[in-house]
Amino acid sequence: MKAAKDKIRVVLVGGSGYAGYEALRWLARHPSAEVVGVFGPENELGPMDRFYPLLSGQCVLSQERFSEQAVAALKADLAMLCVPHKVAMSYVPTLRKLGLRVIDWSADYRLTDAAEYEKWYCPHTDPAGLAEAVYGLPEYFAKQIAKADLVANPGCYPTCAVLPLAPLIQAGLILPDEIVVNAISGVTGAGRAPSPKQHFPERNENFEPYGVGNHRHMPEMEQVLTTITGKETTLLFQPHLCPMDRGMLCTIFARPTSDDVTQLHLLNVLQAAYSNMPFVRVRNDVLPATKYVANTNYCDVAVRLAKGRVVLFSALDNLLKGASTQAIQNMNLMFNLPETTGLY
Ligand SMILES: NC(=O)c1ccc[n+]([C@@H]2O[C@H](COP(=O)([O-])OP(=O)(O)OC[C@H]3O[C@@H](n4cnc5c(N)ncnc54)[C@H](OP(=O)(O)O)[C@@H]3O)[C@@H](O)[C@H]2O)c1
Repeated sequence: MKAAKDKIRVVLVGGSGYAGYEALRWLARHPSAEVVGVFGPENELGPMDRFYPLLSGQCVLSQERFSEQAVAALKADLAMLCVPHKVAMSYVPTLRKLGLRVIDWSADYRLTDAAEYEKWYCPHTDPAGLAEAVYGLPEYFAKQIAKADLVANPGCYPTCAVLPLAPLIQAGLILPDEIVVNAISGVTGAGRAPSPKQHFPERNENFEPYGVGNHRHMPEMEQVLTTITGKETTLLFQPHLCPMDRGMLCTIFARPTSDDVTQLHLLNVLQAAYSNMPFVRVRNDVLPATKYVANTNYCDVAVRLAKGRVVLFSALDNLLKGASTQAIQNMNLMFNLPETTGLY
């Protein structure tokens, strides 16, 4: 299928996963981009609407076997990698060699230090790419993203935690080393591959903590907050699996830097930080909740001062602002489109 000349030609790798499906759904309605090819693993080839019947009439593409020749023939501008970590970095050098710009959904290019990546994941096979990658949180790195050839789309939990925390650490209102991030995620956060843990009777009506003190998104949050604020940030991150399909909510506890910090002061700083940011809504009317952001690219944040503690709340859709529509926001910046194009 030939894309209109002025449209960004996008290929997806890993289109049959949950995040890939959302990218297809949203890009089908994007006025300035068109998906021209979808690639996936050997065991999952075929029409996309066979994997996701909801795509019927929206996407006529089939998921194909990946090859350099097949990608080259598409003359694409951008590759979106919706594959697991380790798999992503096996594709990036080839895609870059073919002249494509890349947005990677996985963790492979998020931690800037290869040794740190190896500590939490595995040895890195593309250190040159790692050195070049830009962290794709548009609210803080828009200028760098616009020029980047390789963007590391942030993790869902880090997006949800960093957006409320960064302005308050930056303004010196909370201590950067006494933060506890308590979070819940819907089950799509674990991807589509079935496992006993994701089996319906295990997840339904069951709210469960995991990853105590060792979740891989913790070093990502610390790195990004330290980079943004210039203040060495350390935190404890405690995730939970919640019996819902999609959605993410953080309740974050921090200590104010002085007794003079007021709730109004905290709120003003958040409002000033995000007044020009289309997808971060600072709420004072209601506390953030997963249903208020479901199926959108919004992250809602709010702050309270309770018993001498700063309590922050944030909510987003893990598959969207936590993954696919955040990647589209990055694509818009990379191709000089208004950040909001095709998004809400
Ligand atoms: N889900 C979320 O909320 C979320 C949020 C933020 C970031 N992410 C990241 O986004 C990426 C995709 O997540 P997801 O939830 O969509 O996972 P998923 O549902 O498991 O999808 C991953 C897709 O990649 C395919 N794949 C695996 N190995 C491949 C290979 N060698 N070549 C081509 N395709 C391959 C998988 O096929 P098989 O199933 O056949 O292996 C599957 O279709 C991950 O890196 C994840 O960490 C996800």
